[in-house]
Amino acid sequence: MQIQENISLRQYNTFGIDAQADYFSRFTNVDELGELIEAKPRLKKMILGGGSNILFTEDVKGLVLKNEIMGVEEVKEDDSYVYVRAGAGENWHRFVQYCIRRQWAGLENLSLIPGNVGAAPMQNIGAYGVELQEVFNSLTAFHIHERKLYNFTTGDCAFGYRESIFKKKYKGRFVILNVSFRLRRHPVFHTSYGAIEHELERMGVKELSIQSIAQAVINIRSSKLPDPAVTGNAGSFFKNPEISKKQFDALQKKYPAMPHYPVKQYASSAARGKDLVKLAAGWLIEQCGWKGFRRGDAGVHASQALVLVNYGSATGKGIYDLSEEILHSVHKKFGVQLEREVNVV
Ligand code: FAD
Ligand code: EPU
Repeated sequence: MQIQENISLRQYNTFGIDAQADYFSRFTNVDELGELIEAKPRLKKMILGGGSNILFTEDVKGLVLKNEIMGVEEVKEDDSYVYVRAGAGENWHRFVQYCIRRQWAGLENLSLIPGNVGAAPMQNIGAYGVELQEVFNSLTAFHIHERKLYNFTTGDCAFGYRESIFKKKYKGRFVILNVSFRLRRHPVFHTSYGAIEHELERMGVKELSIQSIAQAVINIRSSKLPDPAVTGNAGSFFKNPEISKKQFDALQKKYPAMPHYPVKQYASSAARGKDLVKLAAGWLIEQCGWKGFRRGDAGVHASQALVLVNYGSATGKGIYDLSEEILHSVHKKFGVQLEREVNVV
């Protein structure tokens, strides 16, 4: 554990933005975290996982702390469930594969999402019809100012679509140390997301398994999303907007082909009871003519308009300014306000 000065963050964010951190350190347990916070009491702290959902628009005047807490352990099990806890620094996809190998079900649809376990609750990661909250049990987090540990269960986290209490009310206050999951011993398969069924058929799968679903998801994702190792990006840059049924009806009259989805209703979700319809931000952006657009090294991916890309030496500000233009043009054409999913620093 050593504090480095004036470190480039380029290799620590999948957008590949060359921002500088005044101070940078890694920690592998809560004691080290506490010591680092005490060593620089007045500096702003920023927690980093895999850097796959961050856009640095300026240098970080403070201490960047890279969470490398490792370890996976089975906590308990009963006839129906296995409870497993993972360190925040564990790579998400490796953890998913670890569980699949043991026939612990629930994470298969969330295969191949980049980043680490600790960031998964931050935005309640989701893909192919499943959200983290469906398999989440609890987490332990360290309060940066109080220097105390807290336990959060599902009801405490205010999970929503790409949202949690850690992204809103408690932003910047807690460091997530570990996350525990409740996984099924007897799988319930989620194949309702159309593309999965189609891919399973193409793969010739006769008997469903969590392995085959994971493989279908991996195949779809690999064919659709740019690999950050090749082209800098942070996945979907914006959330898919949720609009009122009334606004949707008016838009659908004008654009009958507009993709739309029902909004998932969880017992705890803020959307519960509201008459909302979800639109595809990628479609809205494409309709505004942005797909494949490039200015310098900042661009909109040529086959997925929801993904902004860095072709090499784009600045965070260049990407942010482009996102601002996209926001305005979607609002002008459709009257729909997009919201960024990526954490802008
Ligand atoms: P980081 O980018 O390092 O951090 C994200 C935020 O969380 C930051 O604000 C950071 O300060 C904070 N943070 C990180 N770790 C901690 C911690 N331990 N304690 C407190 N705060 C913390 N997301 C989806 O939901 N679904 C997808 O399908 C999906 N697909 C993607 C595809 C690609 C190609 C890419 C590049 C990204 C995709 N993402 C997706 C976004 C991203 O992978 C997830 O949001 C992931 O959970 C981010 O993890 P990370 O460790 O990289 O977080
Ligand atoms: N579409 C277009 N043009 C585009 C892109 C998409 O018309 O350029 C249309 C597609 O044809 C489809 C619809 O938009 O009808 C939805 O597209 P897709 O299935 O590719 O999914 P998405 O809405 O773009 C969301 C998540 C992804 C997640 C996938 C699968 C958000 C913001 N994004 O993408 O999550 O992996 O569904 O579940 O919810 C992420 O959060 O970073 C992310 C990648």
